Amino acid sequence: MRDIPFPARSIYHDHVFFHLAPRSLRAADKKRSSTLQSRLAARYRACFHARPDPSQHMANKDVTDPARMEKIVSLCKRRGFIFQAGEIYGGLNGCWDYGPLGAELKRNLKDYWWRKTVQERDDVLGMDGAILTMEQVLISSGHVGGFADPMCECPLTKQRLRADQVPASSPGVEYTFLGASDQTTGKTTDKTFTVLIPDEKQDKDRSAQKIALQYYRDLFGKGSAPKTLDNGWTVQPGPREGELYNPENGVLLSEPRMFELMLKANFGATGDQIAYLRPETAQSIFCQYKNVLDSNRVKLPFGIAQCGKSFRNEINPRNFTFRSREFEQMGIEYFCHPDDGLRLTDEWLEERLKFYGEIGIPREKLHILDIPDGERAFYSQKTYDIEYEFPFGIQELEGVAYRTDYDLGVHEKGAGKSLVYFDEETKEKFLPHVVEPSAGCDRTVLALICEAFDEETLTDEKGKEDIRTVLRFVPRMAPIKVGIFPLLKKNEDQVRICREIQKVLQPWMTVFYDDGGALGRRYRRQDEVGTPFCVTVDFETLGEQGEEMKNTVTVRHRDSMEQERLPISGLLAWLLERVR
Ligand code: GAP
Repeated sequence: MRDIPFPARSIYHDHVFFHLAPRSLRAADKKRSSTLQSRLAARYRACFHARPDPSQHMANKDVTDPARMEKIVSLCKRRGFIFQAGEIYGGLNGCWDYGPLGAELKRNLKDYWWRKTVQERDDVLGMDGAILTMEQVLISSGHVGGFADPMCECPLTKQRLRADQVPASSPGVEYTFLGASDQTTGKTTDKTFTVLIPDEKQDKDRSAQKIALQYYRDLFGKGSAPKTLDNGWTVQPGPREGELYNPENGVLLSEPRMFELMLKANFGATGDQIAYLRPETAQSIFCQYKNVLDSNRVKLPFGIAQCGKSFRNEINPRNFTFRSREFEQMGIEYFCHPDDGLRLTDEWLEERLKFYGEIGIPREKLHILDIPDGERAFYSQKTYDIEYEFPFGIQELEGVAYRTDYDLGVHEKGAGKSLVYFDEETKEKFLPHVVEPSAGCDRTVLALICEAFDEETLTDEKGKEDIRTVLRFVPRMAPIKVGIFPLLKKNEDQVRICREIQKVLQPWMTVFYDDGGALGRRYRRQDEVGTPFCVTVDFETLGEQGEEMKNTVTVRHRDSMEQERLPISGLLAWLLERVR
């Protein structure tokens, strides 16, 4: 009997772990379901204990805003935040390069996360693990052979869809065509093709034939165009139980097949050594937990934090950088006594919500999904998803999961080395439990951009309207903190003073000198990339309007567009107070 993937009662947030089980189990499982269409999806969700289909938690269509998203993507390219990787060669799907401003923004996020998580806490230490990961590590963790998504293919469009995310089809008539032939070329096939035409559709026979002819035309290839479906067809009520149909065209999808989500690397002189590009930052932390504990003389509870790249062979990378094949995670594995796990999970959730507020993502745009019993990983006693209202729907930014002693347990067993903790005070020996807040760095960058993006209508003195594009980043996240402008680029003294200010500020923050074009246009260029302050050196700075204003500059605020006058000598301190 051929084995087929069966639920392993485990989740990996977005993805499903599979173990192998006999086909008979699947058959028994089939019988239990009543509606066929939803059966498969339900089985993948509930039986697999998979994370619920994210589309169920999406904002309803009215809340999504594709036009806004389009503008954001375009701004990101135009102003050098994010480019598609390998764009000049046509682009590498699911991979992104951060341009100068995107790199600054991402760095600000990672630095602030590190500062808040590691530097400003006594109980969290940092680490930076290898990306290439031993196969044995990922066998123990369950990723090898288990980290895969069930995928179906549409025979017509060749689209790949995740079986657990295909929505139920509404009732209709299912047509199965028994083949086709093309008199002109003599080509013939008895390959069947099935499509479900919904009840509400008029002239079902015609619709079904049209779509079938399209399929056979593609199958025969160029120069062939079957006009009739000579072999005929059968009809029956649909959807049939256990089958999945493409929600866009009603075509019967192929049987789900497992799609490996890890990326393999071959290395060594003969290339026969195997490692994986890590699918998450967590595993190196679990593997080094004892080394960190012993080398740093820390006591429970304590955490290990890591920010770095992870790789997943996502089948449908989408929504700009939201679901990528190469991405960064900012994760903490917080080790604790079993009695403290649930309490600490709630504490970490609060801590993480506070963090999002500090970087400019307001609480009201965040949604907490308390994953119910039966839908969490079997080892998890509590899991929260922190979701954000992206223009394409409400989607996950971070998971805060209480993973019990599952991870240390599997590595202890896999490596054959004790990972038990000895509490000197209580003399208790136990395997620590883990609370894991794991955030996506690229997703948070995207959330920051989406949140900051604004188009403001301004009206001038003559009543003329104009749209000002502004990225309203909180100053600590802004890629450039200060724009520095001479009023007149031909005025050598103004330029010299600008350059002096630049030299003073540069060791502390990213600044941008600009002397091109009218001052108003320079302000707008900085508004568009989110620079919170612009400093202008003018004739007053030179003392031409009197001694009082000498060595002062105009500071213009991005959001209010108000201006104030500050002495150059106090500029650094004034800015530092506002941009850290
Ligand atoms: N160690 C647990 C873990 O990796 P996860 O939910 O799969 O859990 C954590 O990943 C976070 O990493 C997610 O909340 C998300 O922000 C980010 N992430 C996961 N897959 C991603 C992808 N394909 N593209 C971008 N970010 C991703």
